[in-house]
Amino acid sequence: MSHLFEATRLGKLELRNRVVMAPMTRSRAGAKDEPTDLVVEYYRQRASAGMIITEGIYPSVDGKGYCRTPGLETPVQIEAWRRVCEAVHAEGGTIVAQLMHCGRVCHADNKPADAETVAPSAIVARGEMFTDTAGMQPFSAPRALHADEIPGVIEAYARATRNAIEAGFDGAELHGTSGYLPAQFLSTGSNHRADASGGSRANRVRFPVEVLAAMTRVAGADCVGLRICPGNPFNDLSDDDPEETFTAFLRAVDPMGLAYLHVIRLHDVELDNIALARKHFSGPLILNDGYRLDEAKRVTRERGGEAVAFARAYIGNPDLVERFRQGAPLTRFDPKKLYTPGPAGYTDFPPLSGAE
Ligand SMILES: Cc1cc2nc3c(=O)[nH]c(=O)nc-3n(C[C@H](O)[C@H](O)[C@H](O)COP(=O)(O)O)c2cc1C
Repeated sequence: MSHLFEATRLGKLELRNRVVMAPMTRSRAGAKDEPTDLVVEYYRQRASAGMIITEGIYPSVDGKGYCRTPGLETPVQIEAWRRVCEAVHAEGGTIVAQLMHCGRVCHADNKPADAETVAPSAIVARGEMFTDTAGMQPFSAPRALHADEIPGVIEAYARATRNAIEAGFDGAELHGTSGYLPAQFLSTGSNHRADASGGSRANRVRFPVEVLAAMTRVAGADCVGLRICPGNPFNDLSDDDPEETFTAFLRAVDPMGLAYLHVIRLHDVELDNIALARKHFSGPLILNDGYRLDEAKRVTRERGGEAVAFARAYIGNPDLVERFRQGAPLTRFDPKKLYTPGPAGYTDFPPLSGAE
């Protein structure tokens, strides 16, 4: 018997099945970095997931990296997210906000002129990012955060978590990988600090641990999740010893009693991220990356209490759970429309029956 379609709880989060919609940036936010009617409809269509994890949302505008991405900072943004949460809840779904501060992985043209690009160290990430103004551009140069500025960044995460709860989200997830700010602090390649937030493993884990502590103080640990991917090289991330770093990180995180740990496995590196997570984290795991239905059924059967997160499968299949139940074919998506404004490739995928 598979448990994939059975209800479960992750901390305080109630999931009616174990098919989770993974976070996906889709660059459809409005002029005030708020989710529009289109975004409300996109999430409403996908509400039959056991839980939706939103696209990365910036906690403060300095943390905005990509064009047309949303925030959870201003009253306009909070009210707009409330409409998303209400739409998902009206369909019986569960939704958490993913907090994503991009740090150095950004281009200045993608955010207001007075927003800053900050990072643990003044080291430019190698690579490029799309801008609406000039197409692909090299990443912007970051300014190293002063030690006395770090509490303010942590406070921004706490405020965004409070705003998430106020907007009606069931919880919040910290984006702790893919080269963004928490991962920049964790990794030796991007963190050359000589103070209490750099150098030793204990020092490099300090920032993400303090962010999680702040988020849990606001929302309760049983509403807060963490996403990790040890060894992830995305966005110029590099670490001398990801296994050691994440062992230290998870040991510090485990006693907090988080709702879940969301683990991206990696196929092309030696590290077994799921084994590492199981070894050092005693709460429930959400597993992600390249799962197919049969494998998702197997992992939820063999290791009870877990869920599997699907990203790309959710793009063209808003009713993914029903398709999985029926063993129906999956609709493919157009990669050229992943980040383009408007409904095309976003909300225009019909459900299985052809009518809602
Ligand atoms: C269009 C797109 C946008 C993504 N944006 C995010 C994001 O905002 N935050 C995040 O944690 N992961 C993001 N991811 C990564 C996915 O959540 C997921 O880890 C990855 O696609 C692998 O899962 P899959 O094989 O089910 O697609 C994104 C992936 C895609 C395809």
